[in-house]
Amino acid sequence: MTCLNLVSPASSRYHQLGGVASLLPLPISSRSFCIRESSAVVLSRSLSTSSPSGARRDDNSARVFRRRLSVTSASMAGLPPKPTVLVTGAGGRTGSIVYKKLKERSDQFTAKGLVRTPESKDKIGGAEDVYVGDIRDADSIAPAIQGVDALIILTSAVPKMKPGFDPSKGERPEFYYEEGCFPEQVRAQFLIVDWIGQKNQIDAAKAAGVKHVVLVGSMGGTNLSNPLNSLGNGNILVWKRKAEQYLADSGLPYTIIRAGGLQDKEGGIRELLVGKDDELLQTETRTIARPDVAEVCLQALQYEESKFKAFDLASKPEGTGTPTTDFKALFSQITTRF
Ligand SMILES: NC(=O)c1ccc[n+]([C@@H]2O[C@H](COP(=O)([O-])OP(=O)(O)OC[C@H]3O[C@@H](n4cnc5c(N)ncnc54)[C@H](OP(=O)(O)O)[C@@H]3O)[C@@H](O)[C@H]2O)c1
Repeated sequence: MTCLNLVSPASSRYHQLGGVASLLPLPISSRSFCIRESSAVVLSRSLSTSSPSGARRDDNSARVFRRRLSVTSASMAGLPPKPTVLVTGAGGRTGSIVYKKLKERSDQFTAKGLVRTPESKDKIGGAEDVYVGDIRDADSIAPAIQGVDALIILTSAVPKMKPGFDPSKGERPEFYYEEGCFPEQVRAQFLIVDWIGQKNQIDAAKAAGVKHVVLVGSMGGTNLSNPLNSLGNGNILVWKRKAEQYLADSGLPYTIIRAGGLQDKEGGIRELLVGKDDELLQTETRTIARPDVAEVCLQALQYEESKFKAFDLASKPEGTGTPTTDFKALFSQITTRF
């Protein structure tokens, strides 16, 4: 029996949102734009003036150049022009969005996914690039990590949360255990998945020559009294933090994203906020949409400015601030290595 499969009433929301990811703007960094700007403008002008169907051609040329710009910035971040990216936890609520985005940007990335079960594989389409493996078993993840340039870690032990919890209302989550599932089993899951399982992935990445690891963790790790730590007295945030420290000490280029309360809402429509040391938790802006976390994961692969950094991530409420599109600027704000 698996005790910690999170059964969330909101877990199907992403699938309901379906096309949200495709609504997100393609990334254009100011730096990469400068490099390609003149040729982009010249070709764009020539296409729009020489064709009777200029408008559509304009659209196409703009799309081509956005792709070229993205590829340029990916190369600048030390990855090959079209890096192979493995996302683990690819059947999870954020991991599945990352996997979908990677597939949608097949001109920029070769996608791979790792899921825990065949059921999760089916859930995200069952493609051949999705591997089934358990991060608690180092051998089982080795095939997935072979030939990978970048790794996005989105695995986590998942306690069951009582339905109806809304972090946007400042509510505290309540958890419960399935029948036959005891606090000590909860504790063991945190230790084995959030520490050993993440460590296995980092070790595998190092052995396979992976060039960049993005790890999604959680805000709250500076406070031992955070309510999440009391779940089964499992200290989940302590184990997560330990894995983050292991990555930071690994010598691998890394980006550690400590997300605020995750929400199944539309992405790309809010101003993102980065912070440090859980300072954002003291404010009203301490949540973030899962598609925004997913987007930051992909963007982190494209900018040197994201490397060797750890940061908290949240967003302003929809309708306040300016939706973030300049990710180079966002990453440049971050000064913390851990
Ligand atoms: N929930 C929040 O408000 C919140 C806030 C801040 C940060 N975070 C963190 O953000 C990250 C993403 O959260 P999420 O809610 O989107 O994730 P999620 O839906 O809970 O997905 C976690 C994934 O990890 C996989 N997994 C668990 N144990 C595994 C194992 N032994 N081997 C392989 N895969 C395993 C699960 O696979 P199965 O489905 O097959 O079990 C699942 O797909 C997590 O690290 C989470 O802790 C969450």
